Amino acid sequence: MEESAFTTLQSEITWPDLTDVTPWDYTLGGGGRHLVDEIIVETKAKLLLEIGCFMCSSTRRWLDTHSTLNVIGIDPWDDGLIEQVSRYIGRPNLTRKYPDLETQRQFLHDVETQKPFPTALANVQEFKGRFVPVQGYSPDKLYELKERGIEPDVIYIDCNKKPDELEVSHELWPNAYITGDDWHWSRTKGYPMRQIVYAFAEKHGFKVEAERATWVLKR
Ligand SMILES: C[S@@+](CC[C@H](N)C(=O)[O-])C[C@H]1O[C@@H](n2cnc3c(N)ncnc32)[C@H](O)[C@@H]1O
Repeated sequence: MEESAFTTLQSEITWPDLTDVTPWDYTLGGGGRHLVDEIIVETKAKLLLEIGCFMCSSTRRWLDTHSTLNVIGIDPWDDGLIEQVSRYIGRPNLTRKYPDLETQRQFLHDVETQKPFPTALANVQEFKGRFVPVQGYSPDKLYELKERGIEPDVIYIDCNKKPDELEVSHELWPNAYITGDDWHWSRTKGYPMRQIVYAFAEKHGFKVEAERATWVLKR
């Protein structure tokens, strides 16, 4: 049932032409993702739902690390990402990955000219058989996926640091493991994701494990 819902969704999504599209394997996450790997392995997860994919670098990591895992990724991949990349030029995180400013500018240029969606998909094109990109916004897309019979085993939240993704994911898929990023973001803002995750865990009776940027909820 679930397998066929994935296959049906996959058959309805058209990938853009990726000929000559340059991928940029740049992740915004900050470590600790092995906590999610452990859940995937322990539970023999078949389907991970990622909310917020950016350049699909974290997506690529899940697919590369777990050879039988299918992934559905939700992201608008809209032009806002061009502006987002432009803000990273010269900043420490992008500079660590691409020390050369010219390379950083080429990244921005490619995202601008190729557009965010094809650039992101180029990064995971070898996993086309196991990855379905859903262009749009959570939580609306979560309801649509549920309606279509999609049942993720693990949900990885890495989008806008709001409680909605946790609440709606739990409401729709109470047995799924809920995990995510942004645990370490941002000290000056009082770590908003920690507050959201702790409040959710207390309300619904979960334990929180966290390391670096990654958090997971356990029963
Ligand atoms: C921090 S980035 C994701 C990083 C990615 N997971 C990685 O590790 O490389 C956040 C992404 O969330 C997306 N986003 C923002 N609001 C969203 C929403 N409501 N639903 C889905 N994606 C959203 C943005 O377009 C952006 O690509």
